[in-house]
Amino acid sequence: MLPPLSHLETLAVHAGMDGLTEAGTHVPGIDLSTTNPLRGVECGGDSYENLATGGTPEPGDSAVYQRLWQPGVARFENALSALERTKGTVAFATGMAALSATLMATVTAGKPHVVALRPVYGGTDHVLASGLLGTTVTWTDLAGVAAAIRSNTGLVILESPANPTLELTDIRAVADAAGTIPVLVDNTFATPVLQRPVESGATLVLHSATKFLGGHGDAMGGTVSGPEEWMVRLRQVRALTGGLLQPFNAYLLHRGLRTLPIRVRAQQKSAGEIAARLSVHPAVTRVLYPGLPGQDPDGLIGRQSAGAGSLIALDLGSCAAAVRFTEALRLITHAVSLGGVDSLVQHPASLTHRPVAAEARPAAGIVRLSIGLEHVEDLMDDILAALTFAREPVGALAGSATLH
Ligand SMILES: Cc1ncc(COP(=O)(O)O)c(C=O)c1O
Repeated sequence: MLPPLSHLETLAVHAGMDGLTEAGTHVPGIDLSTTNPLRGVECGGDSYENLATGGTPEPGDSAVYQRLWQPGVARFENALSALERTKGTVAFATGMAALSATLMATVTAGKPHVVALRPVYGGTDHVLASGLLGTTVTWTDLAGVAAAIRSNTGLVILESPANPTLELTDIRAVADAAGTIPVLVDNTFATPVLQRPVESGATLVLHSATKFLGGHGDAMGGTVSGPEEWMVRLRQVRALTGGLLQPFNAYLLHRGLRTLPIRVRAQQKSAGEIAARLSVHPAVTRVLYPGLPGQDPDGLIGRQSAGAGSLIALDLGSCAAAVRFTEALRLITHAVSLGGVDSLVQHPASLTHRPVAAEARPAAGIVRLSIGLEHVEDLMDDILAALTFAREPVGALAGSATLH
């Protein structure tokens, strides 16, 4: 049993691992059962009723059916709750499934209006702007939150740092402006290592677990952490709509949590160094990174979070330069996603944020880098070489060589 006030590093390694010694094993097994034996018709029916309405099994109860409850998923959920310091967590197949379940719970509570602070991940923007799940949205910023709230507002949504431009938002100020309306913070970029939104007044914390939590680019998942009354509603949505996390992915994500603090801090250290060095590079119009001087005007790093993280956005001044840079990188892979052990680059305006309304889409000169665990000098070599292509097209460089 873990002491209740263990440090984050200890929780990351040990949370959700209880009962292993009694079971005579060192790591949890992966239970792939889609269904589970019932001890009798009446108690089986009672278990079904409990789980399909968002309950959790009592010791000795059957888990009935994988869509209703799964032991490895529950281990991962318990571990993440310990890190986020929330009462509970409900895990889903993807981050978007987690968001969809939250929106469905909001709509069915008769509060379909959402207030959202742009920018957010392009998929989040898309699902809100489309109204696909029966929500309506008012886009705003911190100053507009209080005025945007209506009698049927069920949720306020924000990201900090935000995808893709890494703006920070004062979660406490949003929660104050939202009053009794629950605030959901997408904590994918910060992770609980750097930021625990409930400590700043948020009600719900969402993750694309596909990113830092897993950390190796090999398992999709999504989570919502928060108070028990929300967990009950979200477990019910999951049981009825089926967006459950697969047991093998739960195993991988839970394993990923064990190295989360060390990965996040190492990646952040490299990102800070790279951001500082690029901020004086002549081919870079602007480095967007909240750890750079002047980019955290409200002093949120230190107060709300423990660091700027390992995502960097570079404004290269034009779409053409951004495309040339992205395609010239060799070590850093051009691929969507982030937060893994290897560095990735992507062009948000044409990829992740393509569905976003033109007036809110990130500038076409911006590229987003997710800094991994490679040596910082190898990353810098790759970035500097690609920046020479960003400045001038290959043809122009070749042409100038023959002219002189
Ligand atoms: C900040 C953020 N939230 C949510 C999502 C959606 O997560 P998933 O791709 O796991 O569905 C993403 C995906 O990139 C993201 O970057």
